[in-house]
Amino acid sequence: MWSTLKDIHATTKDRSILDLFADDDRFATFSARFGEMLFDYSKTNIDATTLDALVSLAESAGLAEKRAAMFGGEKINETEGRAVLHTALRNLSGRAVTVDGVDVMPEVLATLSRMEAFAEDVRSGAYQGQGGKITDVINIGIGGSDLGPAMAYRALSPFRDGPRCHYVSNVDGADIAEVLAGLDPTTTMVIVASKTFTTIETMTNAATAQKWMAEKVTDTGAQFAALSSDPDKTAAWGIDASRVFGFEDWVGGRYSMWGPIGLSLMIAIGADDFRAFLSGGDSMDQHFLNAPFAENLPVLLALVGIWHNQICGYPTRAVLPYDQRLGRLPAYLQQLEMESNGKRVSMDGGDLTIASGPIVWGEPGTNGQHAFYQLIHQGTQVVPCEFMVAAKGHESALAHHHQLLVANCLAQSEALMRGRSLDEARTRMAAKGLTGDELERQARHRVFPGNRPSTTLVYPQLTPERLGQIIALYEHRVFVEGVILGINSYDQWGVELGKELALALDPILVGKEDGADKDASTRGLVSYIQTH
Ligand code: F6P
Repeated sequence: MWSTLKDIHATTKDRSILDLFADDDRFATFSARFGEMLFDYSKTNIDATTLDALVSLAESAGLAEKRAAMFGGEKINETEGRAVLHTALRNLSGRAVTVDGVDVMPEVLATLSRMEAFAEDVRSGAYQGQGGKITDVINIGIGGSDLGPAMAYRALSPFRDGPRCHYVSNVDGADIAEVLAGLDPTTTMVIVASKTFTTIETMTNAATAQKWMAEKVTDTGAQFAALSSDPDKTAAWGIDASRVFGFEDWVGGRYSMWGPIGLSLMIAIGADDFRAFLSGGDSMDQHFLNAPFAENLPVLLALVGIWHNQICGYPTRAVLPYDQRLGRLPAYLQQLEMESNGKRVSMDGGDLTIASGPIVWGEPGTNGQHAFYQLIHQGTQVVPCEFMVAAKGHESALAHHHQLLVANCLAQSEALMRGRSLDEARTRMAAKGLTGDELERQARHRVFPGNRPSTTLVYPQLTPERLGQIIALYEHRVFVEGVILGINSYDQWGVELGKELALALDPILVGKEDGADKDASTRGLVSYIQTH
């Protein structure tokens, strides 16, 4: 199948995407809907033959069987011997989901109820800090224990009616220092979010927060909560079991915001809106399970991704939400996609013979337009762009802003596809009075090659339910791409080496060890740090 797709690419790569719209049905054919959400991929070079070949690729990779295995609780994370069941966290119907013959749903729903009761107590003031009602919550976590709730808290700010939440992740003391500086320890609650409860950044920040709180609060433990898979470690930290919310090893860190790791979000927006977020995710799960591949949004997103990266060879993709509140979405997706699919060994231990997942990057529009879009339009590299925008914003008094935002979003995908020819550029320069060599020289700088692919995801408005759908959409896209590439999307061995070496460098930096076994560059850098 790979060679069929490469052959298709070889014969179609120079054709005009714009010309494909000679087919009046192109938009209808190459867009798909899920409820009120619309995914348009007609501004790509994919045609019916390509789509058929891509769908066959997914079929031949055993996507349907592997999807059933994931939802069925099989241990598809083979390098860690774990099931992959973040979908169970949003299974509000309680349909049985079994791992090793045990239905995990009663436990999942019981934890959800405990979270809801606690969140409600925090919001109502039934649970208090030493100085009274909790005004601020600090979530201390990193990676999957930070990016999900931090991204969603910002995305759903119009729905916040609970305490303010702050997210501290970096071991750089600047991060926690700036957050603590504005807060009153007697009305602040700290949530230590760490699946393993060993992550050095998180434990260092948690200890600093505890020390800060101890200056004003007698029983600091009473203002701490923990989200973790390791109850022994949370107990050793002195956090009462009533404020510990656990989850099982079948929830991967970057897939964990649906469960206890989402506690800060739940405190901010309330249990009902958090349930709406879960139910949005669950509705996307049902769509992913049931829709035919050629109409299935996660599958289509993945196939477009595979086409652009593995077949066309475009090494990156840009995620460009035209939504200021989705400002952390690109960072969230960077972890989701690159920690999941940035692998060079296939499931069976062999070398991957195709490129692994692409580099994902982005920023909200319109800001990016005044920065890096120059390269997207005129650089030598093709960057497939993934636009997303709501039909309606939340600032009803500023509807004209939203209209401009939407106009810009749609204009960008149009500009990328259409481009501007040399003749058009010449005409413009001639109209400005230029002639001869100068006209030619200036015109060449104003050419847009065009024919650059993009997709657009549109939806009515960004609500908790919609955000749940969008996040689940991207999660399943990662799964589908991983299945097609034949890799394990659920481990992350690539983060380990750096962690080990950092631990080994710590005593060298403070002069307790000499570091003689280090390379000359590392020794030189250590020496510079020590002398400054
Ligand atoms: O270092 C990578 C990683 O393990 C991520 O996969 C994870 O989301 C993050 O660190 C945080 O881990 P934990 O929740 O165990 O602190």
